[in-house]
Amino acid sequence: MARAAAHYVCQDCGAAHGKWTGRCDDCGAWNSVIEEAPVDAVPKGLGTARGHVVPFVSLDGVAADAPRRMSGIAEFDRVTGGGLVPGSGILVGGDPGIGKSTLLLQVVGRMAAGGTCAYVSGEEAIDQVRMRAARLGLASAPVRLASATNVRDIVATLDVDDGPAVVVIDSIQTMFVDTLESAPGSVAQVRASAQELIRVAKRRGFTVLLVGHVTKEGTIAGPRVLEHMVDTVLYFEGERGHQFRLLRAIKNRYGPTDEIGVFEMTDSGLMEVANPSALFLAERRRNVSGAAVFAGIEGTRPLLVEVQALVAPSALATPRRAVVGWDSARLAMVLAVLDARCGLSLAGRDVYLNVAGGLRIGEPAADLAVAGAILSAVGDRPAPEGTVMFGEIGLSGEVRGVGQTPQRLKEAAKLGFVRAMTPPVSPGNSVADAAIEIHEISHLRDLLAPFGCDDGALAAAARREEAV
Ligand code: TYD
Ligand code: MG
Repeated sequence: MARAAAHYVCQDCGAAHGKWTGRCDDCGAWNSVIEEAPVDAVPKGLGTARGHVVPFVSLDGVAADAPRRMSGIAEFDRVTGGGLVPGSGILVGGDPGIGKSTLLLQVVGRMAAGGTCAYVSGEEAIDQVRMRAARLGLASAPVRLASATNVRDIVATLDVDDGPAVVVIDSIQTMFVDTLESAPGSVAQVRASAQELIRVAKRRGFTVLLVGHVTKEGTIAGPRVLEHMVDTVLYFEGERGHQFRLLRAIKNRYGPTDEIGVFEMTDSGLMEVANPSALFLAERRRNVSGAAVFAGIEGTRPLLVEVQALVAPSALATPRRAVVGWDSARLAMVLAVLDARCGLSLAGRDVYLNVAGGLRIGEPAADLAVAGAILSAVGDRPAPEGTVMFGEIGLSGEVRGVGQTPQRLKEAAKLGFVRAMTPPVSPGNSVADAAIEIHEISHLRDLLAPFGCDDGALAAAARREEAV
């Protein structure tokens, strides 16, 4: 016998449960399981009615490559993989207040000149959107604006012959399908609304951009299910206190997923940042200890950022390790390698690590810069002037090569850096033409002396301290 349809659904991950529980077994979230009206009972089997025969075709047919629609905002177009694909669904996620509505209004505002664009707001009244448009200098852009939340009405509006080419739905959590009893924002509603909107987008060949708010745990509210339904998932992120915002592709059926777009939030909307390295290094103070500049790569672009470290005596039995913008497990690894392979123990000292500007780095290539910042803090000695660092650290302390070395060096040289601490450069790597001095570090141990962290220097420092 078929089991009764589950009535309890986790609002964080969408898992269905047969009974109420305080904690979702699937994702571990507390208090996220609520009762939802049952979805129409699924008929048992297919019954006796016969379906239509589906024709098979060969793989080598020519797909009519529909032209992508570019917004003219280069940072946005690059992240989408070269413009919006007609008939596709895109989810734009991010914290409330980060600037999703602003970004998408600017995108359709720019695109409206080349084709009809519609903006459906479920969160703000028409006047509010108009006020924002005026602030962004888009008041005269021919965007069709509507305020609606009922998906039936929206679908009826869009399912016409001369419908728009790009549609923004702001936000999917405010939309509802009137055949479902659950409240807007619940998993069932979000899923059903997105399904209907994407279906009409595919049928009519327009691009639908769905705005989705993110829960405090960092997933788009409810719908991990949603991520499977759309073709592209973009996250808009940034620190509240900072001006810049990053647009990241998490999933993209039509392009790469490691690209980022950098924007700066200003009084008149989001501005593209063509040279992010300069932005991230803008507030850097030279000649201070506890900092190292990392020459990183985000997507296809080199990006220089400052890694900062603070090492302080700890009053705790288990010293603190606090990390912002990097992986704390990798910090633990770097500290363990310093201890076991280089004889520098930081037990009994707190270690704080921060990637300046609020950027999050995922590259293991940052290991060497992290180690550099920590050593600079321990030895209280600034990194040699004008130096960038990159390289992955292995468990035996060896420094390993990383990809795209020439691009990293070129960017560093462009920004006025004169020296790079790098892994041993393999002969095939053409770094000779980079206008920058290369200082190869083959083992993490070699990094101790430049920062005054080798035994002799540390002992001398300790003696000095005692004498004071
Ligand atoms: P918004 O796009 O409404 O965020 P979301 O849709 O992600 O919730 O952005 C709101 C924030 O952006 C708000 O704090 C005000 C700020 N902002 C500016 O600084 N400049 C601007 O030109 C605009 C339109 C907004
Ligand atoms: Mg908004």
